[in-house]
Amino acid sequence: MEQKQLKQLLLELSLEEKAGQLVQLMGNFYETDVESVLTGPGKNLGLTEENIQLAGSILGTYGAETLKKIQSAYMEQHPHRIPLLFMMDVIHGMKTIFTMPLAQAASFEPEMTEKCASAAAKEAAASGLHVTFSPMADLVRDARWGRVMESCGEDPYVIGKFTQAQVKGFQGEDMGAPGKICACVKHFAGYGAPVAGREYNTVELCEHTFRDFYMKGYEAGIEAGAGMVMTSFNTLNGIPATVNQKLMRTILRGELGFDGVLISDFAAIQETIAHGYSENEEKAAQNALECGVDIDMMTGVYAGKLTELVKKGVISEALLDESVWRVLKLKNRLGLFENPYKDADAEAEAQLLLCQAHRELAREAAAKSFVLLKNDGILPVCPEKAQKVAFIGPYVNRKEMISSWAITGDTDPCVTIREAAEELFDKAGTAYLEGSPILDRGYAARAFRGRVEKEYTEEEENALLQEAVAAAKAADLVILPLGEHFMQSGEAASRAMLDLPEVQMRLLRAVSEVNENIVTVLFNGRPLDLREVSSRSKAVLEVWFPGTEGGHAILDVLTGKKEPGGRLPISFPYCVGQVPISYNAYATGRPDDPDGGDKFKSRYLDIPNTPLYPFGYGMGYTGFEVSPVRLDIGKIAENGKIKAAVTLKNIGEHIGTETLQLYIQDVSASVVRPVKELKGFLKVTLAPGEEREISFEIKESMLRFLRADGTVGSEPGTFRVWIAKDSTQGEPAEFILI
Ligand code: NOJ
Repeated sequence: MEQKQLKQLLLELSLEEKAGQLVQLMGNFYETDVESVLTGPGKNLGLTEENIQLAGSILGTYGAETLKKIQSAYMEQHPHRIPLLFMMDVIHGMKTIFTMPLAQAASFEPEMTEKCASAAAKEAAASGLHVTFSPMADLVRDARWGRVMESCGEDPYVIGKFTQAQVKGFQGEDMGAPGKICACVKHFAGYGAPVAGREYNTVELCEHTFRDFYMKGYEAGIEAGAGMVMTSFNTLNGIPATVNQKLMRTILRGELGFDGVLISDFAAIQETIAHGYSENEEKAAQNALECGVDIDMMTGVYAGKLTELVKKGVISEALLDESVWRVLKLKNRLGLFENPYKDADAEAEAQLLLCQAHRELAREAAAKSFVLLKNDGILPVCPEKAQKVAFIGPYVNRKEMISSWAITGDTDPCVTIREAAEELFDKAGTAYLEGSPILDRGYAARAFRGRVEKEYTEEEENALLQEAVAAAKAADLVILPLGEHFMQSGEAASRAMLDLPEVQMRLLRAVSEVNENIVTVLFNGRPLDLREVSSRSKAVLEVWFPGTEGGHAILDVLTGKKEPGGRLPISFPYCVGQVPISYNAYATGRPDDPDGGDKFKSRYLDIPNTPLYPFGYGMGYTGFEVSPVRLDIGKIAENGKIKAAVTLKNIGEHIGTETLQLYIQDVSASVVRPVKELKGFLKVTLAPGEEREISFEIKESMLRFLRADGTVGSEPGTFRVWIAKDSTQGEPAEFILI
């Protein structure tokens, strides 16, 4: 529709129609008759029939036929035939579930993520969706927080690259084009830093930490052109983000120049009352609209209060129009006025969803995300070798490997480890056993407030264990797929302990007593304390929640058909007492000196400062040597650049890929700077014996930061540069910025 026509449409809307555009309800409200909605869920929200008829968007329902039906019935009764927007959390795949976002970041290959997001968009669009509530650009340093799995980890640079890749993959150049959907960057802002890792808790971030680290991901997503942004549940500087003028007006709309649609998180406007900030629903509606929050997700606050507030003159109609205009513009960008069904098409759905090409992509992306944490020469395994292999553990035959955020996905199409192994290993010499339940007795009922798993009796547990020990004794090699239950990570899944369920540790201990050749394969959504797992295993392969093709990808890597391609996008702490932790900490006045005898240093008495597995770490199946860093010049000026290079050599026996990482430290500045910051990365593949010069360009613009006077820029002085295989390795070279 032409701008002029769209403006005209806005002018013609009644106050009620305008307010309706800013209301989002659950799709199931439209799948049954209005009567039952009004006496059921609608009643709880205080909704009228008119509210339901005029709501501008819905969430949580998909399927071409269903959404087409809803759209046509809705438009028929809408006074101005304005189409609905259909939104859904398509986080890491629609039906073909790719590996989880944190794992995708582990690939250090944003191009792969762009392909996954693009495939997800195609499937989602065919299913009738217009918007996905993704990517999540929240930075996370605390593994206790359950949504770490949905993040891209602890580093602003990595988060920025992967957020952009997702936005590009979902939206392409034009979100109205076939197979494209609108992306929504979330949760603005700081949601990834709840105090003590407890979900929905307060966030405490000073301006510097917020801007140096947490803001970068959102910024990157907005720069990439995301059509929507979602507010966060938390407070920031004492004010709930959703009604925080500084965040939403000064930073988001002002500094970041975001002019798309801002949606609240689920019920977040109403929750400002529980926060003790808004006195009542009227005030909550006023506060949020004044902050430019355009859509109220799933409460009756905007639906019930906005028109009244305008009529009373508390808010101006112009303010209401500002938000309605943004929603109409989005509908127009998606082409919904011309074609309200967009790509919804049952035939395309049948062809695209879980198609072979998407499954292959899921298999490749998963293998590239696996991080080999330890390998005492036991991997890869050769299936043709005459040896007895026992696959033992709750994940041997488990299809639930798609994460709790794969809400549109199904577990049935998932390939299990056993299914994939049976394609390769000789039947007679291979055993497959469950070994233990996935959760400790009583945990599911307690933690998930409902039964999601079969409860085993003590006798049943013991029987599983005995069988496992016997099989392990008889085997030459044991592959132990262990891990968190998928419900232990994700939203509302904070954990105080970063461990594997005790019942699985009992299995690991018993098996390791009778067989030392153990390869542990780990399924989890967050960093765990892996000290004992690591000491009892010859190899540890982190496979996260790998998605639909998990089993195939795992066997590809275990058997060496593919290299484990991942490097950690987040530190794996030594133990829970270290969190929050990240490699890019601010320098302290008393840095630890692990070999020195001085007690008065920034350190623990009982554990090291360093994580068990650091950011950037991961092994492949060959070895690489990195030379000292060489700089082409020693000094640069404003707008100047410098070339930093190393020689990378494959010193192993196989072709392999290394992920080289560029880190820089600003040695002294007007505010304290991080001990190092990632500024670039590059994946390089070399044949055995091959060596190559690898270089990065360091530009003065990469050295800029928020200075003491509140401006952004670089400051003259000394800088250190590392090019290394992870955040702890290598010796720095130095240059001066004049
Ligand atoms: C709440 C979550 O915080 C958010 O990420 C999600 O998009 C909405 N629910 C909608 O499902």
